[in-house]
Amino acid sequence: MERQLQVGYIEIEVPEPSALSSFFGEVIGLVSGEPADRGALTWRDDDRAQRVIISPGAANDVAAVGFEATDDAAFDATIARLRSAGFEPRDGSADDREARRVARLASVDAPWGTPVEVVTDLAAAVAPFESELVPGGFFTEGVGFGHVVIATTAFDESVRFLSEGLGLVRSDWLEMELAPGIELVVHFFHCNERHHSVALAHAPFELPQKLHHIMFETNERDDVGAAFDRAWASDLNIPNGLGRHDNDGMFSFYVESPAGFQVEVGHGARVVTDDWDDDRRYDRISAWGHQPLRQA
Ligand SMILES: [Fe+2]
Repeated sequence: MERQLQVGYIEIEVPEPSALSSFFGEVIGLVSGEPADRGALTWRDDDRAQRVIISPGAANDVAAVGFEATDDAAFDATIARLRSAGFEPRDGSADDREARRVARLASVDAPWGTPVEVVTDLAAAVAPFESELVPGGFFTEGVGFGHVVIATTAFDESVRFLSEGLGLVRSDWLEMELAPGIELVVHFFHCNERHHSVALAHAPFELPQKLHHIMFETNERDDVGAAFDRAWASDLNIPNGLGRHDNDGMFSFYVESPAGFQVEVGHGARVVTDDWDDDRRYDRISAWGHQPLRQA
């Protein structure tokens, strides 16, 4: 497998960034990074300076997804691949690079309607990662901060963007009837050992948020259980209780953030191997569990 990229960071725009602080800090167990420009707050799930950037703004949705290239050659190859697939990356400014704390940055419009940034050398944080709430830490080494799931009506073009443009490879896909006449189609893409760094859901119409969820994978199984207890003790919606996904085998649950998008906290997903040949259809989301537990 060619490993050129990993998901470096996500920027989410909400009207009041501090409204998510107790959610990320006290429920999920992330550690706050240094405040960024223009009133943005940042969050870490490892030794990098910032993995989740919460910017003030009206979108209440994902604002950008950053892919970190493994080195300059991978960066150049990704930019060239995007160009030859008909997408036009633009060079970022010095301000952009400083805000993202990276060495190189190019930005390209993804078909789902937000920028994707390709970067190198995401800065390390001043202090090593240590979360009292997640003592085992998160699985990020070589695989990026987690995964991002986006729902879009521009499904086919978004698939082409990820595969022909960014060079991600489909791991497998989910296709099932959620209810009579309502089809759920989700394609899962990898760019390293993580089963999927991005998944695309085919939205039947424009949803209020393109961002369905972001996922953080703990190193220790018990840290998922402890996060579930914290979510349960809060008044947040829990769209899916503990369960195990059929395709990536992840043991996880989903909690709804105060901004509406969900966060999956999981452990133990299977990893993509060099001889991956399991790109096939799944017809169920979960092998067990993931029951809807608490909705407003
Ligand atoms: Fe997920």
